Amino acid sequence: MTRTEGRQRHVELADEIRRHDHAYYVLAQPKISDAAYDRLYRELLDLERMFPEWVTPDSPSQRVGGKPLSGFSSVPHRLPMSSLDNTYSEEEVLTFIARVQRLLPDVALDWVVEPKVDGLAINLRYENGVLAQGATRGDGTMGDDITTNLRTIRNLPLRLAGSAGGVIEVRGEVYLTLDGFRKLNAEREAAGEEPFFNPRNAAAGSLKQLDPRIAAARPLAVVLYGIGEVVPGVGAPAPPSSQVELLQQLKSLGLPTPERTWHCREPGEVLAAIQELDGIRRRFNYETDGAVIKLNRLADRERTGSTAKAPRWAMAYKYPSEQAETRLNAITIQVGRTGALTPVAELDPVFLAGSTVSRATLHNEDEMRRKDIRLGDTVVVEKAGEVIPAVVRVVTDKRTGNERVFEFPRTCPECESKVRREVTAENEGVIVRCKNPDCPAQVRGRIGHWCARGAMDIEGAGDVLVGQLVKAGLVREVTDLYRLRLDELSNLERMGEKSARNLLAGIAASRSRDLWRMVFGLGIFHVGAGVAKVLGRHYADLDQLAAASESELIAIDDVGGVIARSVAGWFTDPDNGRLIEKLRRAGLNFRSALYKPADAAGPLHGKTGVLTGTLPSMTREEATARIESLGGRVSASVSKKTDFVLAGADAGSKLTKARELGVRILDEAEFRRMYGG
Ligand code: IVH
Repeated sequence: MTRTEGRQRHVELADEIRRHDHAYYVLAQPKISDAAYDRLYRELLDLERMFPEWVTPDSPSQRVGGKPLSGFSSVPHRLPMSSLDNTYSEEEVLTFIARVQRLLPDVALDWVVEPKVDGLAINLRYENGVLAQGATRGDGTMGDDITTNLRTIRNLPLRLAGSAGGVIEVRGEVYLTLDGFRKLNAEREAAGEEPFFNPRNAAAGSLKQLDPRIAAARPLAVVLYGIGEVVPGVGAPAPPSSQVELLQQLKSLGLPTPERTWHCREPGEVLAAIQELDGIRRRFNYETDGAVIKLNRLADRERTGSTAKAPRWAMAYKYPSEQAETRLNAITIQVGRTGALTPVAELDPVFLAGSTVSRATLHNEDEMRRKDIRLGDTVVVEKAGEVIPAVVRVVTDKRTGNERVFEFPRTCPECESKVRREVTAENEGVIVRCKNPDCPAQVRGRIGHWCARGAMDIEGAGDVLVGQLVKAGLVREVTDLYRLRLDELSNLERMGEKSARNLLAGIAASRSRDLWRMVFGLGIFHVGAGVAKVLGRHYADLDQLAAASESELIAIDDVGGVIARSVAGWFTDPDNGRLIEKLRRAGLNFRSALYKPADAAGPLHGKTGVLTGTLPSMTREEATARIESLGGRVSASVSKKTDFVLAGADAGSKLTKARELGVRILDEAEFRRMYGG
């Protein structure tokens, strides 16, 4: 192939891949097999390796090209990004419609109703069809340039489909998908990290990341519903004259738009649309907190104009969330296993979404301050998607003047030692932490975590009992459990001889648990059950794991820098060294049943594979066994360290990630051809 032919091929490939990305991420209708897509992608990467000068910012290979930034720069919006007036009342929607009609008495108005996506507003600037800049709304006049993070979002095209030259700014929301949010929080909690309050918060936290690789790992997506500055180039289609046309144009440019919108002519139709949306919005993969009602024709919008804050031609209707008002009587501070202080509101019991609520989280000190929550306040509590109810806001109208400001403690309420304000590793908020390792709350938390079902699984050792053991001074660290005697236990309140014997039997049985359970139970920061199992597969016993250096740990698939640092750091702490010796003397099992020594002679020795989707004739277990018998390892997630992905039908995000990273993708037939069996 000559250089000219190669250049031509590169352009074709980029184009074809873009079309397939659109079919896959925007339309959810893939047109080719994964293996065929993979071939195109590798061919593109190969050409770009040979001719790096052909790599353009809109190449499909450039989604995670950026290095960490030192900060976001502020950029002006060519056209201001205003906000919307909103209401919770259908009556006010009708008033709004009547007001607009009075402003435009001579026209028969028509309206568009759209879901109000609860994300973060963004402006995307495409120049000659290529994404040139993406910014947050900021104060409406200036926003933050978050282009590198936005580029990582898979359903956001880096180049518009079939667009002519010129400039087009499109506007919409970035959101975190709901299933992605649940998964992300489960992972964070298992690893002892603060969960996000809600998807919107998680999306905001993700976009604030200076390292685009963190944003890339978050399940973000965009939806577009508006335009900003437009400078049509030669041959560009006429600018839209209505919202219906605008949405149509966005779609034909390859941009994701709201999956359902309503075109209404009568006020009654608008209300019906709002109700219909309420009936279906819980099926969407993003949170929808309302409906937006907009004048359809752009010429009509011009005539109504805007106020300083919001346009006169649109309004947001917000659905009532499951909320209730009640009195906040007191604030207690809970201290968790990691020493984090969480303020909890003690409330007059109130019935909310199917159950009685008498406590609700106030999240943390900063949130409490932001909402100006005081003792004696009437507050609104809400049960959102999450299980734990939260205090949303204060009903300031109901203040009597007798409310008192709550002083957030500067010392730990459990042990009275000084607390420290800490910024979380990912800079997503401030946590107030008690740093005293002997704090009874932390001791209870650590022991409880060790005994938990997912960890050492000690029958009979629930939270209440653990509390009793700690209070009675019988247990200070987990090793103390293994020295407990029947007579000590029988003296505890509500503890008969029979339950004492059962507990001792449960503790004894835990001596033989597999290594990963112990590693998880130790409560090392960032080590959830999943990571503990990965470590259990790599190390034959606790001593080998304890001797592993940070760089050795980093080399393991599924173990990133943060985890490696945390694990290596934990084992170098002399206190933890002593703890391990006590566990050894207490007769606990240190060996890993998961450990699989790699077959050094096998053809897959030193290689790591990832399974995804359903294979035509092998189960997951069979495929794993096959890879391991060839000397390879199987890992749960795709990373730069992955050597190949064995993909079957209905493969999901792992396949996507593999493509992104240019990891080799095999189907079962190819795998069998190469390795027999
Ligand atoms: S139209 C001039 N349409 O809600 C502002 N906004 O509470 C035009 N939002 O600032 C905005 N979904 O960030 C519009 N379908 C939708 C929307 C939407 C969510 C956001 C947007 C806006 C905020 C107002």
